[in-house]
Amino acid sequence: MKREGENMKISVVGSINMDMTVTAEKIPKKGETITGRELYYIPGGKGANQAVAMARLGANVEMFGCVGDDGNGALLIENLKAQGVKTEHIKTVEHTPTGVAFITVGERDNTIVIVAGANNRVDRAYIGHIEHELKKSDMVLLQHEIPLESIEYVIDLCYRNQIPVILNPAPARSLKQNLIEKVTYLTPNEHEARILFGAVDRDELLRRYPEKLIITLGSKGVCTCRKSGEILTIPARPGNVIDTTGAGDTLNGAFCVKIAEGANIEEALQFANAAAGLSTEKLGAQEGMPVREEVTNALRV
Ligand code: RIB
Repeated sequence: MKREGENMKISVVGSINMDMTVTAEKIPKKGETITGRELYYIPGGKGANQAVAMARLGANVEMFGCVGDDGNGALLIENLKAQGVKTEHIKTVEHTPTGVAFITVGERDNTIVIVAGANNRVDRAYIGHIEHELKKSDMVLLQHEIPLESIEYVIDLCYRNQIPVILNPAPARSLKQNLIEKVTYLTPNEHEARILFGAVDRDELLRRYPEKLIITLGSKGVCTCRKSGEILTIPARPGNVIDTTGAGDTLNGAFCVKIAEGANIEEALQFANAAAGLSTEKLGAQEGMPVREEVTNALRV
């Protein structure tokens, strides 16, 4: 584990999307048509968002993934570079559209529909191509917006090479038990935890995986179980919420950075929770992601 400022290498293997975000007074119900306020094209994708969250906090981070050979793909790579994320091994796939997400923001919440496009090409062949680079990582962060066989392979690769892995299982999808055993941290929200484990009492579930399972609770914060069996809940910090898109990504990125620096789980979650809160104060997944000083200042209050 390395200290703040040291050249730890964190790798993200995941999705890169263009978010088409509509702001509206409310989120429409099934069958309902409403008029939106504005439409924005904003860089997103859970993988890219987590990489940007870490770069903003000063980490040495590389993004591994695929974009299409369209305007969005080129723009998204430029955006990552501008944010300080390494992009050398991102593949531009021919005759394939870049991933997009259709997001409605209203009532301090959102709904998201993604069309994977080139994210589906983060396949075993691509992983084989980047495997050598991945092995140089101090830590790897994964989500669920790329093919499952790639996620399984990367987890196995990291396990064999003793590289800690955080899996943010979003969007929800079931997982083989042996994969859960191999990841260092698993960070579902409550809905994803239900898909992964069924309708189990939350505290009972946390006690099954002490200091491994971290459940994010949205506006209620984040919780885990200490090795002692004590449940640790860190409440969300009050803030002026504009858009919650990417708050989970900020939490995962900030948590990863602190753990890679050697923080204990409570310190890392306090830091990540504060970063996630700050990220909701601007529109778009990446726009509100804080730099380290902003998080440190927020933690002093
Ligand atoms: O977590 C938020 C992200 O989910 C958005 O940026 C969107 O692209 C989807 O991947």
